Amino acid sequence: MSFKAGISLSPREKRHTVSRYLYSHFAEHLGRCIYEGIWVGDHPRIENDGGIRCDTIEALKKLELPALRWPGGCFADNYHWMDGIGPREKRPRRHNLWWNQPESNEFGTDEFLRFCRLIGTEPYICLNVGSGTVEEACAWVEYCNSSQNTSTVALCKANGHPEPHKVMFWGVGNENWGCGGNMRPEYYADLYRRYTAYLRGIAGPEAKLIACGSHPGLPDWDERFLANLRDGNMLHSVDYIALHSYLGWGKSDVNFSDEDFLNLIASIDITGQCLRRAIGLVQAAGTPEKKIGVFLDEWGTWWKEATVPSGLYQQNTLQDALFAAVNFHLFHELGEWLFMTNMAQTINVLQALILTRGPELLLTPTWHVYEMYKPHREGFLIKLAQTSPNLRFFETKEIPALSSSATVSSDGRRMFLSVVNIDPKQPCSLAVSFDDAAGVYRSRHFQRRHDLWLRYALQRNCRSGSLGQQTHGRFDRTRPPKRVGSGASARQAGHRVFWRGFDRR
Ligand code: AHR
Repeated sequence: MSFKAGISLSPREKRHTVSRYLYSHFAEHLGRCIYEGIWVGDHPRIENDGGIRCDTIEALKKLELPALRWPGGCFADNYHWMDGIGPREKRPRRHNLWWNQPESNEFGTDEFLRFCRLIGTEPYICLNVGSGTVEEACAWVEYCNSSQNTSTVALCKANGHPEPHKVMFWGVGNENWGCGGNMRPEYYADLYRRYTAYLRGIAGPEAKLIACGSHPGLPDWDERFLANLRDGNMLHSVDYIALHSYLGWGKSDVNFSDEDFLNLIASIDITGQCLRRAIGLVQAAGTPEKKIGVFLDEWGTWWKEATVPSGLYQQNTLQDALFAAVNFHLFHELGEWLFMTNMAQTINVLQALILTRGPELLLTPTWHVYEMYKPHREGFLIKLAQTSPNLRFFETKEIPALSSSATVSSDGRRMFLSVVNIDPKQPCSLAVSFDDAAGVYRSRHFQRRHDLWLRYALQRNCRSGSLGQQTHGRFDRTRPPKRVGSGASARQAGHRVFWRGFDRR
């Protein structure tokens, strides 16, 4: 049995551009994200390019991630950048406070910027406001961006970089309401004013300064921060305000029911409400000359298996992939004001794109969503009307069985539609109709055989050692998902993400 649904597209009704930065990412010194996931030094068995593992470079290069946020997260307000430059053998070892692990400082600013170049992404650096100083932050920006004849710039050149790195995105602290200093918004706002008074001139006119924003459980942080900045007309110092939203708390990465899955998808609305609220605030705060935008620079699933002792390691299944896809549809909707989002985190931590174990690497289902959704970047969001049944769960709750989004490429020649079948049990028979540039009405019908099936062999046994035998995520046009793994994976194999691109001619 399949359920029937319909999507009608109006490519001539263009809304806003979908910023490519919505598909950015986040890598922190946490667990095995940086060390092992990216940096392996002179490991004898893992092929590397000057210490950076080659398989990671290859896997991330394919995604063309627009920006990568680093070094944290909570680690950022505990990090002193000078520890991580110069000869590696002389770098101090420190205690990574929040994640309770040693920090060798082998991977520092120069390694990060080289990694960004290797994978073709733009760096987004988060400064230390919680335990750092204005002087330290300014020196870091100077090291990266200045071309003046100064000792700090000379240091950068001595470390092998004759030209400025021109880092465009600078975060002024991270979660300063929590791990970034337990501040009140007024206190943070005062610090923000002070930091940016000096940073703006050093970072350069192109640079963007990003303020720490709220999360769904923190209702008045953004209001109070913006109200403080309004005083004395300091709102011009804010380019973006960055929110965080994690979902899935308390539930398991692989042991979940269909109802848990539906509840997770429904909970994306929590992120939506939080973002809409922030967008309303920046709309009211901005002026025609100065528009403040919104980032969601940490988001994703956070399952109960991701704990500090596990280095926030968790498995990644089709549940995570579908969650990512539905979130992207939300982000497209809000794209007039939402400029960047950074899923947490790139490798081996939370909703990862890649998992590694020693010399082995696998691409998670979430990696495939980033890959599949590439054509949406910089396209125009178009009007879409969807008809689908609702799915009922936990007795009284309901969500639509489909989630969809469509864009037209910036040259107007191609249209892309992404559709997620949220129903864990039934396939969907989908009729898609649209009118083209000439006003000719066309329609196509998609049945099972047209779907691209997202297949993934689940890593339920990952921790106990069968990683090498698993099938890596890949698409198969013709066959239904192979049933692999045990209970949880078989259930998840019922979910599908399907995808089509239309040629305008
Ligand atoms: O991504 C893990 C942590 O979650 C980050 O360090 C912090 O900013 C957030 O609380």
